[in-house]
Amino acid sequence: MKAIYPGSFDPIANGHIDIIERASEFFDEIVVAVMINPKKKYLFSLEERRKLVEDCFHDNKKIKVVTFEGLLVDYMREHHYRVIIRGLRTLTDYGYEAQMALTNKNLYKESETFFIHSEEKYTFLSSSIVREVYFNGGSLSGYIPHHVEKALVEKIQATRSK
Ligand code: COA
Repeated sequence: MKAIYPGSFDPIANGHIDIIERASEFFDEIVVAVMINPKKKYLFSLEERRKLVEDCFHDNKKIKVVTFEGLLVDYMREHHYRVIIRGLRTLTDYGYEAQMALTNKNLYKESETFFIHSEEKYTFLSSSIVREVYFNGGSLSGYIPHHVEKALVEKIQATRSK
């Protein structure tokens, strides 16, 4: 069975990679869907985010990366996917996640959301924390892949030279 792991990934961090790799042990294929949350303003473009995710998984043939716009459930129905994977870090994630899971279930009855608990060391981590730390000259190098760190540094330099 295939499962889809949707998110913004602006940028992908080791906490996301942990969830994806652990999920891949239970499914034949994990489709990582790099998406647009209309409420967010992104640092990286959709294509840049997709590429950063793809570069994490060259060695794992069970992980595929896609991008699309519109409803998650429409894409799932079209491709006959039924399982959504989401990570939970702390109790604060639960309200938002429950609302999304119930909305998706309402829109597509055959879908199920599976939650995987984040590893303890990643529970504080989020893409905006990563961006904020780097923009202010800090480093979270143990928490993001090397190529993502490089892309962040380049993006910050490009933003500042504008
Ligand atoms: N490690 C690191 N960070 C994690 C994490 C982990 N294990 N788990 C969650 N996060 C962080 C993300 O980095 C992100 O941080 P940020 O807000 O600082 O950027 C935050 O948790 C939640 O982000 P994400 O899981 O990417 O969700 P999102 O709200 O950005 O996007 C979509 C959610 C794209 C899946 C959702 O909006 C969607 O499905 N959109 C399509 C339209 C649709 O179908 N809508 C109906 C469904 S309600």
